[in-house]
Amino acid sequence: MATTETSNATGGLTRPRNVTRTLRGRAASEGAGVKLTRVIGQPGLPDLDPFLMLDEFRSDDAADYLAGFPDHPHRGFETVTYMLAGRMRHGDNKGNVGLLGPGSVQWMTAGSGIVHSEMPEQENGLMWGFQLWVNLPAAEKMTAPRYQDIPADSVPEVAAGPGAKVRVIAGRFGGTAGAVEGGTTEPVYLDVHLEAGATVDLPLPQGHAGFAYVYHGAAEVGGEGLERGTLGVLGAGDGVRVAAKAGPARLLIVAGKPLREPVAKYGPFVMTTEAQIAEAIEDFRAGRF
Ligand code: CO
Repeated sequence: MATTETSNATGGLTRPRNVTRTLRGRAASEGAGVKLTRVIGQPGLPDLDPFLMLDEFRSDDAADYLAGFPDHPHRGFETVTYMLAGRMRHGDNKGNVGLLGPGSVQWMTAGSGIVHSEMPEQENGLMWGFQLWVNLPAAEKMTAPRYQDIPADSVPEVAAGPGAKVRVIAGRFGGTAGAVEGGTTEPVYLDVHLEAGATVDLPLPQGHAGFAYVYHGAAEVGGEGLERGTLGVLGAGDGVRVAAKAGPARLLIVAGKPLREPVAKYGPFVMTTEAQIAEAIEDFRAGRF
């Protein structure tokens, strides 16, 4: 069950992070023709180690999403799907199935390889959510595939002061552990809901790379005003102050430990060397995933 508690362990940042750059996503098409917005993984921001990609999908026009993401492979990293609205059915070649609904999370460690599909379970209405790709260290790229499917009511929600609520998807916020147990990159993934006038300090591990992505309203992040659809790359520090001024705001705060390893990327395969990419393609073609 979700826990709701008041946290007073969040203030007192000694070295607040600022925003070092901002950018907006670009229109992209993925799967069998799903229209989405690519925020990380585009020419303006090819990656943000350890994050390889961030997509936002948001449409109430079924033509934009109905085709879904039929069978496709992944190897060498993790995909994190966070749904805000709509339903997506997941299935893979190992027999795993799951239904993602509003507020739920799927943290999939593709590791050595899976072939899966992600298909809308609706023919109309709003479909809204995010997919984040998190790199795995070279030593763990061929780990056994693993899923963490988290229903909405299992994501802890913390009342973080007047008008502020934090859904702790991964990492920690105050004394609350997130729904997902992170690995080597020690990911922090927070969904922050602010009412007009609310301010909250969000501690983040020093040394983590991080970003804010505003998906509703407008927020101030590290003193910088960010409109809906804007990503702010966070500078160094021990946390970030976020605030909503004129109206309510919602944003993702995501951070992770950089791997600082070479990245060889080819579509759904993210490895360390080109030889490993060739091997991934061969293994996939030979049905060894
Ligand atoms: Co996929």
